Amino acid sequence: MDNLPVHVGIIMDGNGRWASERGKKRSEGHKEGAKVLEKLAKYAKEKGIKVLTVYAFSTDNFKRSQEEVDYLMDLLIYYFNNKLDKVAKDGIKVIFSGRREPLREDVLEAMDGIVKRTKDNNKCILNICLNYGSQEEIVDASLKIANDINMGIINREDINRETFFKYLYQDLPPIDLLIRTGKEHRLSNFMLYQSYYAELYFVDTYFPDFLEPDFDKALEYYASCNRKFGGVKEDNPNRLKKKNN
Ligand code: IPE
Ligand code: IPE
Ligand code: MG
Repeated sequence: MDNLPVHVGIIMDGNGRWASERGKKRSEGHKEGAKVLEKLAKYAKEKGIKVLTVYAFSTDNFKRSQEEVDYLMDLLIYYFNNKLDKVAKDGIKVIFSGRREPLREDVLEAMDGIVKRTKDNNKCILNICLNYGSQEEIVDASLKIANDINMGIINREDINRETFFKYLYQDLPPIDLLIRTGKEHRLSNFMLYQSYYAELYFVDTYFPDFLEPDFDKALEYYASCNRKFGGVKEDNPNRLKKKNN
């Protein structure tokens, strides 16, 4: 496909509603969502996407019941040690964005394990945002910069909008296409700095129902966008009628 995004971000939302609408517990929705992530990571790699960043758990998600938080953490451990590990062996390098505190020790161990096992893979990067908040990331980056300036490691003139990326949790290219499933049209503290010129794609489908053909539709939408970055450019002939699905 022409015009493939280098970096795709997904706000994987709607697991709870997917389950409630089927008379199931919210945890069932998270379980289905994890299966979809496994499929999409593989698919993105096959398509030639270089970086896939997914929002798995926000710093604010700790506001949920202890039962739900525990379930999610156990599910993540299971996926890192089993399912995703198998997918990742096939060329995907797994990395994480977020604060380590206050994640449980067993969660940190599972994270470190999959990072280590996949560190030499080079087909696609799967960046998992876990205990992630974008405002926290920007604050943390600013503190690191202040520290490096104080220590004489860098000069203040070295900091600009490009070099700032190096101080974020991961030094990745900016997000080209940002997908949010599950009806809401908001960013919920996801990748605010990296999404500065991202094309935004909101879809009503809940994440457990967001499969490969839906991902293809998002890529098709992206291919039709007329990215200008503040400049002037002739209209993209493939431009689709803009709509929020
Ligand atoms: C997204 O689904 C997964 C996480 C935030 C962990 P939700 O759990 O937010 O599902 P809804 O939005 O309540 O349906
Ligand atoms: C964003 O979804 C976080 C993740 C998908 C992990 P939320 O469900 O937490 O966001 P809000 O509360 O609807 O904004
Ligand atoms: Mg939600």
